[in-house]
Amino acid sequence: MYSTSIGNLYFENFIFNASGVWCTNNRQLSQLAETKHCGAVITKSCTLLPHIGNAYPKYHFTDSYSINSNGLENQGIDYYLYNQPYPPHKSIFISVGGHSNDERCDILKKIMASKEHPGGIELNMSCPNLGDIGPAYDPQTLERSLEYIYQQCGEIKNTLGLKLPPYYFQEQFLAIADVIDKAKLRIDFITCVNSVPNAIDFDIDNDIPVISPNGGYGGLGGNILPIGLANVKSFVDIFRKRGLNIDVIGCGGVQSGEDVYKYILAGAKAVQVGTHLWVGGPSVFEELTKEFALIMSRKGHTALHNVVVKN
Ligand code: DHB
Repeated sequence: MYSTSIGNLYFENFIFNASGVWCTNNRQLSQLAETKHCGAVITKSCTLLPHIGNAYPKYHFTDSYSINSNGLENQGIDYYLYNQPYPPHKSIFISVGGHSNDERCDILKKIMASKEHPGGIELNMSCPNLGDIGPAYDPQTLERSLEYIYQQCGEIKNTLGLKLPPYYFQEQFLAIADVIDKAKLRIDFITCVNSVPNAIDFDIDNDIPVISPNGGYGGLGGNILPIGLANVKSFVDIFRKRGLNIDVIGCGGVQSGEDVYKYILAGAKAVQVGTHLWVGGPSVFEELTKEFALIMSRKGHTALHNVVVKN
């Protein structure tokens, strides 16, 4: 296993679940916590109150990709905060969802007031499946959100990060990095990337979309590895150039140890697994770790920081 740290949180292994996958209830969360090679645990993006989400069918999986429009089905912040049966020996992240900045602030205030959660917070700024899409799709909207959260919540002590959507152009990476750099709210990490919004696929037996909410449109996961890698590398390059100490977690399209290695090459300090975990279950963490370890030993590397891309 290869250790890492994100903000001030330590992981014995750098691979863990992506928010939204295997993390809605305590049975799933406990399973992840008990899975040795799953290095940390992150919850489903939560709302202030339990939320039923969109109608089924709202997930579609194949071996290579997934489309989902879950609609923030979750148990509400209190469940993830106070009802944690899973052993506390791993870093736990709460993914903060919500439909508005006010709801995000109410959730954050609950976490801060409770003192139950020494772990991390991943602020989900990029849910593509709600009427009110996440603020990170646009730099000015993200800037206003972070300012509002800072005004309402003040300094947040937990290791704090943002889950970002995929971006495609250099000016977007620069504009978002500027917002993060200048925000009064201290951002310790970013997670790149959330699913690619508004994908659709069809069931040709019935001539209908494969999922039912939102006209069949949902977030694409799975075969998006090069998009995830490009987002990680773009932000890592900008942060390094500016001397910013912001960790980047890679997410999107990991199906093998090779894919994991590529995220480390792109500059990620940890790697999340979504679609592949959904399809394969928690045993994927051991497989990915072993495949990754073989590549590391073949190359003579002993630690993640030995992996450096040759530009
Ligand atoms: C949902 C999907 C996402 O991609 C996300 O970041 C948060 C929530 C959802 O539909 O529940």
